[in-house]
Formats: sequence, structure tokens, C-alpha cells
Amino acid sequence: MTGDFVQTVRQVVEKLKGSYALAILAAQRPGEIVAVRQDSPLIIGLGQGEYFIASDISPLLDYTRQVIILEDGQLAHIASQGVKIQDRDGNEVAAKITPVLWDAEAVEKGGFQHFMLKEIMEQPAALRNTLGKYLQEGGISLPRVHLRPEELRAIDRICIVACGTAYHAGLTGKVLFESMLRIPVEIDLASEFRYRKPILDGNSLLIIISQSGETADTLAAMREGLRLGAKVLAICNVVDSTIAREAPNVIYTVAGPEIAVASTKAYTTQMAVLALLACYFSQVIKREEGVFLQLLQGLRELPNLADAFLASHAKTVEEIARLSLDWRDAFFIGRGLDWAIAQEGSLKLKEVSYIHSEAYAAGELKHGTLALIEEGVPVIGLVTQQQLVEKTVSNIWEAKSRGAAIYAITQFPQRLTDVADAIIPLPRLPDPLMPILAAIPTQLLAYYAAAARGLDVDKPRNLAKSVTVE
Ligand code: AGP
Repeated sequence: MTGDFVQTVRQVVEKLKGSYALAILAAQRPGEIVAVRQDSPLIIGLGQGEYFIASDISPLLDYTRQVIILEDGQLAHIASQGVKIQDRDGNEVAAKITPVLWDAEAVEKGGFQHFMLKEIMEQPAALRNTLGKYLQEGGISLPRVHLRPEELRAIDRICIVACGTAYHAGLTGKVLFESMLRIPVEIDLASEFRYRKPILDGNSLLIIISQSGETADTLAAMREGLRLGAKVLAICNVVDSTIAREAPNVIYTVAGPEIAVASTKAYTTQMAVLALLACYFSQVIKREEGVFLQLLQGLRELPNLADAFLASHAKTVEEIARLSLDWRDAFFIGRGLDWAIAQEGSLKLKEVSYIHSEAYAAGELKHGTLALIEEGVPVIGLVTQQQLVEKTVSNIWEAKSRGAAIYAITQFPQRLTDVADAIIPLPRLPDPLMPILAAIPTQLLAYYAAAARGLDVDKPRNLAKSVTVE
């Protein structure tokens, strides 16, 4: 060390490559910390006579509602006298203190055993708040979307990029956009997209989905899209997260803080926002106006239907989940939008309960996976799409006749009574919105299965809430 702590850190940081968020201590300077970041989030919490450093706002909420979101290249010197921020060139800049507006209840379990269950139960409110923000009497208003009508009309391809659960929300967006807008939509995992030399130009729309707004791969994919000149729109839950700050167009989901590692309410609100966005585009480019009006009506009804479902059927799912103590493997199957939900349901189950699970497009079973079906293997069949009911039911019979135990999640219960061992009936909504309702029982199933096993549901092993590394 040259004697000057801050100066020494600056000299070292200049030599670093890659992404990092560092909090550096020096034996000679007790009571001081120098924090720096590059492409990784670093949040400084300002407490009463104390400071905190974290990669996300959520863990700070028990201690403070005042944060400084450090930017790339900035350096923070934290000492008992206060926090001083320097820019990349070493000039002192004013610290921008951001108040965190999440209410206290949002970060407490509120009588629930786990945050995951609380967040599942909060979905009607999260949907109501999200839709209420953008869906007004006069139509849809997206204040942070600055794409002009002529720019929207010129879009000839859409790319949706995200990771994990957010990617699964994107799968529903693809189906909706293609069917309503008749524009080709590609969907990619962010970790793949960024290395596959994507083809994007000024007439491409890149939709980035991220609850945290900090996922390293998703952020890198967004930057790549911006570099290529695409129009970029981000769907985020965390206000002022890196993705939200860097995206030229943003739609926030208003799900409130999601504390459990397993994403639930952020996911359903992401799907609601995608449906809203599809309606917004189709209004501007004047396509499928009939569908659009029907969907808007459905979106208005959605929060109450989610409420009604949770009130009347959460117990049914809990009972099915009790059987899961004997499950070693599980299969989720569905077609079209139901396949998207099958993929998320399967991820959720393995993520929190550690039960091995796979999702298949129902028509694919006979191309290999059927060999794994034997007496008692649980198959969760998603059947919510009118056009595909007969086909999916026939695939469910293929599994049933090999001994599978069938659990059906459906808005057509009468079509499944013969084949299903148990049915979870869903309220009716237009088919394109059914994934948002159908997701809820899959989340409950995962939750109750994990809780029955006595697992640490909110913090599954090996996983983190914000994935800020590649
Ligand atoms: C979902 O339950 C997971 N925790 C995970 O797949 C998550 O959705 C993914 O890491 C993406 O996170 P993001 O939405 O914050 O970008």
C-alpha cells in the first residue's frame, strides 16, 4: 500500500479485468472500507451509525431504507465520518441516496412459515398492482416505453432473452406475440444469446426479462443488443437495478420485493406484463383487435380469479403434495402455452423440493420419455388450451396406461375425470392468459412438497437470488 488506502485500491482496480464487486479492508486502516464494482451490483446501505454492503437491496431491508447504488467505475470510501464517492477519474461526486419505497410488511413473513408461500399468496395483489399501474380506463399506458408508433410498426423481429423462470415467462410472450402480432419471435437463454452472435438491427426489438435486474448474463445480453442497435425494452421488478437503469425502455412489474430464491409473484406479473405488451403493440399496429379487447377484459378479471383460486384450491394442492414424499421423479407435460408452464412447474419443483423432474411437450413423450413411465410415476398434466385439449388428453392416456399417477391442472375438469387421479380445476379466462393462473398450483405443489420434506424452502441449496456471475 502506498499509504493512501483509496489511491492504492484505485491503482489495483485499474489492473483488474472482468466483472467484480469488491469490499476491501486494510489491516492498517481499521474501520474503513473501500468498495468498487464493475458489471456486478454493489449496494451500500446507510444505517444508524453503521453501513452495509450487499449485491441486492433485499438483504438490507431489515436494517435500512436508504441506499446508494454504486455505478460501474465508481469507488466508495466508507468510514465513520460517512461515505465518499469518487468517479472513475478520482473526482469526488455527490452520493445519490435512493430511498427504498417497499413497505415494511413486504419484507416480513407476516405469519407465513416461509416467504415463498407468502409470495405465492401475494400474487393476486401483485397482479392487481402491476395491471392497475398500466391498464387504465382509457387503455394501456406505459410511461417508460418511449418507442414511437412508427418505430413499433417497423419492428420485423422480436427477441426475448432471460434466464431461468424469467425465460419461462418469455416462452409465453413468444406464443402471444407471434399469434397476435404475426411478427417472428425468437427466445433465448441469456447465457446462450450473448455468445451466439445474434442477428439484430434497428428494426429488431429485444425484450429483456429479469426480476432482479442484475443477472449477469441477462445484463450482458442487453448490452449486446444495445451495441447492435436494437430497440431494447426491459421488464424488471427491482426499481433502479442495473438493467432498469441501462434499458432505454422499461416496464416494471409491481410485485414488491421477492425474498424467496424461487421466483413466483415476479413470474406471474412478468407474464401479465407480456400479455399487456402484446395488447399494446397490437393496438398500435392494428392487428387482432378482437383478441386484444378480449384479453384486456381477461386481464381486468385476472387478480380476482387468482384470489378465488387460492381461496378454494390451495388445500387440494397441499393434499396432492403430501403424496410427493414418495416421489423420486416427476414429469410435467402440456402443449403450447401449457408446455411453457410445464417447464416452469418442473423447474420450481426441483429447485425447492430437490425431486428430479422433467418437462415435456406432451406430444414428445412417445419419442423416448415414455420409457421412463412406470407404475406410480407422477405426471402433472397441464390442460388449459381449448384447441389442444383432445391432443393433450390423449397423451395423458399414454402415460396413464403405463401406470402413471395423473394430476391434472385444467380449466376443463369434465374432460379429465376418467384419466386423472386428482384434478386441480382452474377458473376460466381467455386461453392466452391461462398460464398466469395455471402457474399458481405448480408453485404451490413445489412449495408444499419442499415444506413436507422439511427443507429450507426460501434458500434452496446451491442457489442465490441474484445471479451476478456468469
Ligand atoms: C427461479 O425460481 C430462479 N430463482 C431463477 O431461475 C431466476 O428466475 C433466474 O436466475 C433469473 O433471475 P432474474 O429474473 O433476477 O434475472
